[in-house]
Amino acid sequence: MEECKKRVFSAIQPTGSITIGNYIGAVRNMVAMQDEYDCLYAVADLHSLTVDIAPAALRKNTLELAAILMAAGIDPEKSVFFVQSQVHEHAELGWVLNCYAQFGEARRMTQFKDKSAKAPENVNVGLFDYPVLMAADILLYMTDYVPVGKDQVQHLELSRTIAERFNSRNSPTFKVPEAILPKFGQKVRSLSDPTAKMSKSDSDPNGYVLVLDRPEDIARKFKRAVTDSDSKIIYAPDEKPGISNLLTIYSAFAGVDMDESVKRFEGRDYAYLKTTVADAVIEGLRPIREGYEKLMADKDGLLKTLAVGAEKASYIARRTMSKVWRKLGCVRP
Ligand code: TRP
Repeated sequence: MEECKKRVFSAIQPTGSITIGNYIGAVRNMVAMQDEYDCLYAVADLHSLTVDIAPAALRKNTLELAAILMAAGIDPEKSVFFVQSQVHEHAELGWVLNCYAQFGEARRMTQFKDKSAKAPENVNVGLFDYPVLMAADILLYMTDYVPVGKDQVQHLELSRTIAERFNSRNSPTFKVPEAILPKFGQKVRSLSDPTAKMSKSDSDPNGYVLVLDRPEDIARKFKRAVTDSDSKIIYAPDEKPGISNLLTIYSAFAGVDMDESVKRFEGRDYAYLKTTVADAVIEGLRPIREGYEKLMADKDGLLKTLAVGAEKASYIARRTMSKVWRKLGCVRP
């Protein structure tokens, strides 16, 4: 890793399998940024503790997500790739930064309000504090850029506020991170309701395609995809959300731009569009699925790779924390 490269941090929660929407909108960017930036990528298992998740499920999801990300192209030789809870400094800095985040600021987070409304039986303090832990993730590594989707913009703003507050109360310590707009910004919508975002929490499993779905399931889901009543294949997200969504997915998986995608379907019907998109997705996911299976067949190897990543992350995290403790006046040996 060269010192002159700008540093990027991102993390994904291990809350279950990822959809092709996550793949297109987030993972592809993470993979693409590896050459240009000095990247740190984490599986954010501590964040997942804010929901009621069974230990066996958390463990399974963590390994599964790590394997998917590696199979999709996150290269632990190029980037620092690790599991958040294996680097204890995340929790430590999280605590410190709690004392630099205002209650009123955290209370204004719209994701907190949404999540509390969705699970009123478990509005735990961790859920409230979630964005502060996220700030710790980012600030721990003197991150320059954080690739963020719309839903995380407010959290990144809070991270910046916290960093600036710490720097001005103590002395310049943290780099103030900036959002970076993803190169591939396409949003993927539900196949069964193209006005909604594709999400694995959709009650209709035909609405989303998981990266690990079997080819026959993928084919079926696309066959059922909601379109509209006329028969023109054009890209017009507002008037034709279903067709436009299929074109977006096609363009991502076929690796061609939108103009070229539209051209390829000139004079064709919806049935042809659906099977062609399904085939492109099946083919595009095949190497990921195969890579995933190989990695999961050697759990010890996978655990070792993650441990090496955590060791590399710890090296940076330790240096940050020793500065932080000193600035705070915490007595160290
Ligand atoms: N909260 C993010 C999400 O659910 C995951 C995350 C945790 C994250 N820590 C982060 C993203 C730090 C960016 C930077 O999508």
